[in-house]
Amino acid sequence: MPNQKTQVGIVGAGPAGLLLGHLLHINGVDSVIVENRSREYVIDRVRAGVLEQGTVDLLHAAGVGARLKREGLRHEGLYISFQGARHHIDFADLTGGKAITVYGQNEVVRDLIDARLTTSRPLFFDAKDVAISGMNSSTPTIRFRHGDADHQVQCDFIAGCDGFHGICRPSIPDGVLTIYERVYPFGWLGILAEAAPSSDELVYTYHERGFALFSMRSPRVTRLYLQVPPDEPIENWSDEAIWTEMLERMTTRDGWRPNVGHIVQKSVTPMRSFVATPMRHDRLFLAGDAAHIVPPTGAKGLNLAASDVLVLARAMKDFYACGRTKWLDQYSNVCARRVWKAQRFSWWMTSTLHRSPDETAFDHQRQIADLDYLTSSRAAMTSLAEQYVGLPAEVSFESAGLSGP
Ligand code: FAD
Ligand code: PHB
Repeated sequence: MPNQKTQVGIVGAGPAGLLLGHLLHINGVDSVIVENRSREYVIDRVRAGVLEQGTVDLLHAAGVGARLKREGLRHEGLYISFQGARHHIDFADLTGGKAITVYGQNEVVRDLIDARLTTSRPLFFDAKDVAISGMNSSTPTIRFRHGDADHQVQCDFIAGCDGFHGICRPSIPDGVLTIYERVYPFGWLGILAEAAPSSDELVYTYHERGFALFSMRSPRVTRLYLQVPPDEPIENWSDEAIWTEMLERMTTRDGWRPNVGHIVQKSVTPMRSFVATPMRHDRLFLAGDAAHIVPPTGAKGLNLAASDVLVLARAMKDFYACGRTKWLDQYSNVCARRVWKAQRFSWWMTSTLHRSPDETAFDHQRQIADLDYLTSSRAAMTSLAEQYVGLPAEVSFESAGLSGP
């Protein structure tokens, strides 16, 4: 059986696992990354698209921002649309020059895999039967099958970066974690279309027929979402039906509407808010979606994964550099403060912009008033803008061994 030793064993090669591995590498800390899907699957998976200013700065400071700088689309604002009119929220003006960058999560993952391969540190794709044990011993262990061989990796620590459906969180004994959860009575039908974006910035639409979102991936590819029931079979939606509904919800009185094109990908995602704390059990640390999920309306999930691993990398750097456990001990509390603020923001964006099956006429009028206030008060717009571009990082880049942005 191939046996290996490493300092940090990382389960999952999504954004959290790959970025953690890279930040540890910069600090001279060894890791082994174990992923149960293929490299192609991980790179092709279409998911998030909005990077906060701080996430962009972090990727640059970590030396993996070259393609992001060339191909990322910097947006200095967004539109909120309701009752047939779009209202602009100017991030740059309201936040002192901050912005978001539209760059597909799969492109971030591709850049991080390329960076990993140049370090020659281990990264296993297609691992089968991944399991962890010994979290409360001095050598927690990851076991998995790769090709014909059974592997065993002995670690100082394990980072559970294996997403919401991974094995790390369920490996924690009953009674340790407190779970906070809210399941929403709707989901998002998302499409990628070969159509030039008809707006330079995202458009969040509240419509009588439900929420819709206009986004993009490149100057030739539009990304759009529609609120649908959470268990809606995608087979119910022909391409023609999708375009009819998109145009119905998004077209504004001034004639703005998305450009129509060939749909190259479509899927339905249910929505939930979820937090498991503490994000640590002995020598197992949970990061990203393994510890928390937000509904995508606030565009926070990938960004929270990045901020968790920045905090974790700083803690591990401190431990290996001078044996200090203070930051490891504070990891969960430091992350949870940001996680709860992102939960609150994502819940608010979601409940303000969606139609709920059990809503009353009062709720509907209150939502319209909320949007009217949001788009007419500089204070309300500033609140949205500062949260959307991302609240300040919990720890400095320098403390995590990175040169400043
Ligand atoms: P994941 O990306 O889920 O990565 C976990 C990895 O672990 C995966 O590669 C998985 O294959 C692997 N794994 C799972 N089980 C095992 C196992 N047993 N052994 C080994 N490996 C395993 N966030 C934003 O910030 N902005 C957005 O605009 C945004 N839009 C979104 C739109 C949609 C439709 C969806 C679904 C999500 C969106 N998100 C967005 C959320 C974002 O995609 C996630 O929060 C992000 O992927 C979290 O990264 P992660 O590395 O923690 O988890
Ligand atoms: C996306 O471009 O995929 C996207 C943008 C904003 C969101 C969610 C997803 O809130």
